[in-house]
Amino acid sequence: MISVDPLPQDTRALRDAFSCFPSGVVAVCALSGPTPVGMVASSFTSVSLEPPFVSLCVQKSSNTWPQLRGAGRLGISILAKSQDAACKQLASRNGERFVDIDWEVSDEGAVFLNDAAAWLDCALSREIEAGDHWIVLLELRGVVSRPEINPLVFHASRFRQLVA
Ligand SMILES: Cc1cc2nc3c(=O)[nH]c(=O)nc-3n(C[C@H](O)[C@H](O)[C@H](O)COP(=O)(O)O)c2cc1C
Repeated sequence: MISVDPLPQDTRALRDAFSCFPSGVVAVCALSGPTPVGMVASSFTSVSLEPPFVSLCVQKSSNTWPQLRGAGRLGISILAKSQDAACKQLASRNGERFVDIDWEVSDEGAVFLNDAAAWLDCALSREIEAGDHWIVLLELRGVVSRPEINPLVFHASRFRQLVA
């Protein structure tokens, strides 16, 4: 018989358990006036084909999400294995997130990172309150896929790579 410990008061055990699930990492970026704003998220997932939806979970404490949620279009870049440093920079709490990062903007204002494994052009559909996060549902308006580019993988709080 296996014994499953009840959750302790602090969230460490929960974080450790969640981190056993490997994921990719995306950058979600837009323009605020002429300036790019963005953050990274490992909680990205595909949701629906018809209509086309993807989702993210965003901490309610995020300082960046309030700027992104007001943008008409959001660019999701699925990060490549070469973008681990860019990922850390785009998650930094202080410092210029976009310094030395190559990015492009679509006609509608979605911001994409060059060299990513895929680009998803999205519009915010709705936000669902879920504890200390928002489940953010995004409707896709366009995609560019580059399956030949190896993705960045996040597992147990470390960046990893897929090995054939
Ligand atoms: C690999 C990685 C994955 C992350 N995934 C998420 C996520 O899924 N949701 C989220 O809200 N923040 C996530 N973050 C944290 C944000 O990118 C960002 O650092 C945090 O929101 C604080 O910055 P802000 O206040 O400007 O949003 C992740 C950070 C890293 C490095």
